[in-house]
Amino acid sequence: MKWLVTGGAGYIGAHIVRALNTAGHDVVVLDDLSTGLRRKVSEGVPFIQASILDTDAVTSALRTGLIDGVVHLAAKKSVEESVHNPHLYFEQNVLGMMSLLDAVKAAQIHHFVLSSSAAIYGSPDGQRVSEDTTPLPVNPYGQTKLAQEWLLADLVNSGYDLSWTALRYFNVAGAGADDLGDTGVFNLIPMVLRALDQGQAPQVFGDSYPTPDGTCVRDYIHVQDLADAHVAAVAHVESGSRSSVFNVGRGLGFSVLEVLDAVRAVLGRSFDHQIAPARAGDPASLVAAVGRIDTELRFSAHRDLTDMVASAWSAWQAFPPR
Ligand SMILES: NC(=O)c1ccc[n+]([C@@H]2O[C@H](COP(=O)([O-])OP(=O)(O)OC[C@H]3O[C@@H](n4cnc5c(N)ncnc54)[C@H](O)[C@@H]3O)[C@@H](O)[C@H]2O)c1
Repeated sequence: MKWLVTGGAGYIGAHIVRALNTAGHDVVVLDDLSTGLRRKVSEGVPFIQASILDTDAVTSALRTGLIDGVVHLAAKKSVEESVHNPHLYFEQNVLGMMSLLDAVKAAQIHHFVLSSSAAIYGSPDGQRVSEDTTPLPVNPYGQTKLAQEWLLADLVNSGYDLSWTALRYFNVAGAGADDLGDTGVFNLIPMVLRALDQGQAPQVFGDSYPTPDGTCVRDYIHVQDLADAHVAAVAHVESGSRSSVFNVGRGLGFSVLEVLDAVRAVLGRSFDHQIAPARAGDPASLVAAVGRIDTELRFSAHRDLTDMVASAWSAWQAFPPR
């Protein structure tokens, strides 16, 4: 089958494109390059520069590319930015998804894999969060990701024949190749590397959360493991699975201070950090229950936090973000 990957020039999307190609799938990338980089899409992979909000352009890409399914990543992804600019998030993530689904219907596409997020869960009570936990997002970003899942479920409820799955990513880190590192400024490890590059002490947002050391706890997953999870999800959807959601994490929580220690160990240098005020919309702890994806997709992540930091650092040195 042939897949259109929206957001395929972005950090995670570029890894997925390569993993799908390696697994023998034909892939076309559609991306507006608002945060993605053209150089991350290998030569030979068809690339269309367009926004998902442009329904006609997406419909035409689906039809002329003879596409069978969509892996949808194109979205805005910063919790903090979403709190300050919610309309941008509802426009890009919700209206964008509605536009994309209009194109999916027009082109009679019947297979869909969605990038969802642990942010839909909000602030659970500290236990590992399973897919059956009632979603209660605490910021506009999480609300828009949950709305994306609803749009898929409602499309099926309206009678449209769609086999879909949503992967709820926890915190994604690392690089599968030096040219695919995270060049954004929103995720913890790149933020730390950027601060060190600039001779500054990395900031830790809040140290009085109800967690063992007072800093936020997250479940970090290597981006290459996440890409491999998409290969499994695509096979699942191709086999006709009706609708399903899966957490993608490792089931292990690390605090911000523990991640900083991992960076110190990998870089072999000591540095101070600076405690800054807690950010709006940041839950204290988010750790995945990963039994469902293990059982149903036979997927489990096997790269650890050191692998994530080491590969991110290697990519950072090879392709320093400007
Ligand atoms: N990075 C994480 O830790 C994380 C965690 C959970 C979920 N996610 C989800 O993963 C997906 C990808 O995130 P990422 O970290 O790779 O971010 P990214 O910013 O690197 O990638 C997003 C890509 O989408 C493109 N894009 C954005 N808006 C678009 C539009 N309207 N039309 C076409 N292209 C558009 C961007 O140019 C970029 O290439 C997002 O849906 C995000 O919500 C990420």
